[in-house]
Amino acid sequence: MVTEPERKRIMSTDKSTSWSYTEAFASEDVVLERARERSFELGVTPVSPGVGAVLTVLAAASKSHAAVEIGSGAGVSGICILRGLPGHAVFTTIDRDVEHLKAARQSFAEAGIRSNRIRTIPGRAEAVLPRLTDGAYDLVFVDADKANALLYAEQGVRLLRPGGLLVVNDALDRDRVSNPAHREPTTMRLRELHRALGSDERLAASILPTGDGLIVAARR
Ligand SMILES: C[S@@+](CC[C@H](N)C(=O)[O-])C[C@H]1O[C@@H](n2cnc3c(N)ncnc32)[C@H](O)[C@@H]1O
Repeated sequence: MVTEPERKRIMSTDKSTSWSYTEAFASEDVVLERARERSFELGVTPVSPGVGAVLTVLAAASKSHAAVEIGSGAGVSGICILRGLPGHAVFTTIDRDVEHLKAARQSFAEAGIRSNRIRTIPGRAEAVLPRLTDGAYDLVFVDADKANALLYAEQGVRLLRPGGLLVVNDALDRDRVSNPAHREPTTMRLRELHRALGSDERLAASILPTGDGLIVAARR
């Protein structure tokens, strides 16, 4: 437990300024800018630049052979993950919307990523994930419908090899999760997800305040 003086010392600065600073630290090139534009044209919210940068770092650090993403959008997070993965790694991305998958493939092509490194799977993640092989992935990234995040995280843990990483985006629900006054169903589901991952002995879990909150958990 953080003591009150320690909490006051840590919180003595305006955290929103630091948050903006860390998001701006992650500079993006024209390929990512175009993928962002494509996302907004489709009405999809891509990961923030800060989250994208964390994904690249985690993908590089995990030395992943195989990574899977739930929620392709127009490919912003996919490009960030692929830029961190070793050249031989295969990236699987799942989306229920074929237009989004088409846009993501266009973004990957513009990023110069070979198509044989990418597997795009159309379909609802609830139906697709159970078909993927146990313990075959080093990185699982969840960025789809929040209501099912717990289900995807459970499947994600099953898919991970020991040492692999589970990453869940939008984990703080626009600051609602930390405020007990908010009792919306999605917020409650996310609190449930935090409790489940925090108490899961198979995992070492943390929540980063990057973007709208990023859960990062390692499979022991
Ligand atoms: C927030 S966007 C993903 C953004 C993407 N990760 C990025 O950074 O570019 C969420 C995506 O999840 C997809 N999605 C929502 N519910 C889904 C489900 N049940 N199964 C599969 N995909 C789903 C949506 O079609 C949408 O493309």
